Amino acid sequence: MAQKSRIAVTPGDGIGPEVVAEAVRCLETLRARHNLALEWTRFPWPSHAWHEEHGESMPEDALDQLKAFDAILLGALGDPGPLDDPQRYLLPDSISLAPLLDMRKGFDQWVCERPARLLPGARQYLADKRAKDIDMLVIRENSEGEYVSQGGRLRKGTPDEVATQMEVFTRRATDRIIRYGFEQARQRAGERSQQDRPRQFRTLDGRTCNSQVCLVTKRNALRYWGDMYSEAFEQISREYPDVATHHELVDAACMKFVQSPWAFDVVVASNLHGDILTDLAAVLSGGMGVAPSCNLNPTDPDMPSMFEPTHGSAPDIAGQGLADPTAMLFTTARMLDWLGRRDPAVDAAGKALFEAVAADLAENAGAQRGTREIGDAICRRLA
Ligand code: IPM
Ligand code: MN
Repeated sequence: MAQKSRIAVTPGDGIGPEVVAEAVRCLETLRARHNLALEWTRFPWPSHAWHEEHGESMPEDALDQLKAFDAILLGALGDPGPLDDPQRYLLPDSISLAPLLDMRKGFDQWVCERPARLLPGARQYLADKRAKDIDMLVIRENSEGEYVSQGGRLRKGTPDEVATQMEVFTRRATDRIIRYGFEQARQRAGERSQQDRPRQFRTLDGRTCNSQVCLVTKRNALRYWGDMYSEAFEQISREYPDVATHHELVDAACMKFVQSPWAFDVVVASNLHGDILTDLAAVLSGGMGVAPSCNLNPTDPDMPSMFEPTHGSAPDIAGQGLADPTAMLFTTARMLDWLGRRDPAVDAAGKALFEAVAADLAENAGAQRGTREIGDAICRRLA
């Protein structure tokens, strides 16, 4: 048997524990069925509940504890709900969500991958028939940029207050995220050709390629990082003549995500731009209920990667068994793919989970079902 993969399960707040419960049931089913070398440990933190009891969202040595794992499976952080309980224990967003950013930074999870593919059965928000061809991968720079949290408030609370919020872009992080984007484009083209569903993209000089990377910046206004990104993109693209290149300003990218999202393949964006674009991309692929996400450190095998759906804690429906676990389960499938890089059985389990969730979605298009009911149906398929 392969070396055991260890997962830290952190359900978090709101609907997090509900959707994570279904993910764990699927993992149990898969482990039993395929005799997988997988084990997991559940942590009550980070969460509001932990903060209420201990005055902090997670213990001081949380990252040290998590570092012993190969992956972190996180439900959601934020307002725990229910919204109609005015007495519920609430924290400012910047505090309750800080553990997410602490993990991304602490484990140098420098890639945030958010695929957006409109799968059969998912809600199609765009009327255009071509929406069924939406299949993009947004790659968000996840280690710096607008999210470095440097700055401060001067003369706080006075009419002369000054707030500064620094953005930091390093050439090293720029190069690595752009190169990662090109590698993913190549890999996706390879997978598509195996599955006999090729796509074609035109280059500026009139050639046709099987994949594309679109770089997003705001270089017309934010020129320093925008120019550095553009130069790095141009240089690195020469190593990938088989991949078509494209650039969009972020505002135009928002427009084109709605106007012709099927024209995108891989999209590379900064931390903040990627954050904003992926809420939009999630809706294009059927909504927050189906949108997976992962925070990866592809370079250091000692650092755990973190898997969390794009959605938040959904306090409006928390505790009612109404949350759609599909996004969490697609995210779990992605985690198994990741862990499966060193264990083919786990890789196969990831594919089986993806197929089961996709088949369930296709068969139950538009049906009103509860969290548990969807989890049950998918576990039955897996067993
Ligand atoms: C996300 C979330 C987080 C982010 C928040 C909760 C800090 O919106 O994962 O997309 O902005 O990165
Ligand atoms: Mn977001």
